[in-house]
Amino acid sequence: MELVITDSAAEAGVLAGRIMADHVRRGARAIGLATGSSPLGAYRELIRQYREEGLSFAGVQAFLLDEYLGLPPDHPQSYRRFIRDEFTAHVDFADSDVHSPDGNAADIPAAAADYEQLIAANGPIAVQILGIGTNGHLGFNEPGSSLRSRTRVKTLTPKTRADNARFFAGDLAQVPTHVLTQGLGTISDAGHLLMIATGTGKAEAVASAVEGPVSAFCPASILQMHPHVTVIVDPAAAANLRAVDYYRFAIANKPAWQSY
Ligand code: F6R
Repeated sequence: MELVITDSAAEAGVLAGRIMADHVRRGARAIGLATGSSPLGAYRELIRQYREEGLSFAGVQAFLLDEYLGLPPDHPQSYRRFIRDEFTAHVDFADSDVHSPDGNAADIPAAAADYEQLIAANGPIAVQILGIGTNGHLGFNEPGSSLRSRTRVKTLTPKTRADNARFFAGDLAQVPTHVLTQGLGTISDAGHLLMIATGTGKAEAVASAVEGPVSAFCPASILQMHPHVTVIVDPAAAANLRAVDYYRFAIANKPAWQSY
């Protein structure tokens, strides 16, 4: 695992975007996208590179981590709509190449299995960008999620629903209680896991995920079991880490030939 502490949240987003762009330029067949606020800076950097540097997503398949159950697909907070509004509609992604679990399916377990099959048929996902919940969730794998789980329905914790109420005009009643999410096993199949966390609200979760025990109670601690992980944090999100000096030293002395 490589831990990068940037000088600012803006810099963290640009670096995450650059890393994703490198995968696309190297010929990634599929990339994994997250929603929420954490990846927005990375998406802005990808849009900038598309407009100014010829980065193209033509032929790349994109897979979202998760989707709320029961929100109409055109609801502004459905993740299907969110990712188009914030990212994919601003670049040359074909709409039909952007995939998400079907949170409106009549048969939810079948929709979960279909999503797994779609990823398997189009993968492997070269790079998966990830945020982290204040309770350590990854995707919507809430504390207690099996470390080998696959795409399935999950019940959101009250904490996650409260955290996400800001996207629903602060109205907790509007936040769905259930989601379809890639499992921790599904996420772990990606070649490179790229987690971005900024702000003091994430400091405790980041420290648990990176330096705490591997535990289903901190789902993001599954990162410790993956061979290629980059965690990008700003100073606020790094505040509870113990080995900050070492992380900074390792990046300052990163061999010139070694990419992220
Ligand atoms: C989003 C997702 C979640 C978020 C997490 C952090 O697709 O799967 O794990 O990454 O809840 O959300 P933000 O970035 O809004 O703080």
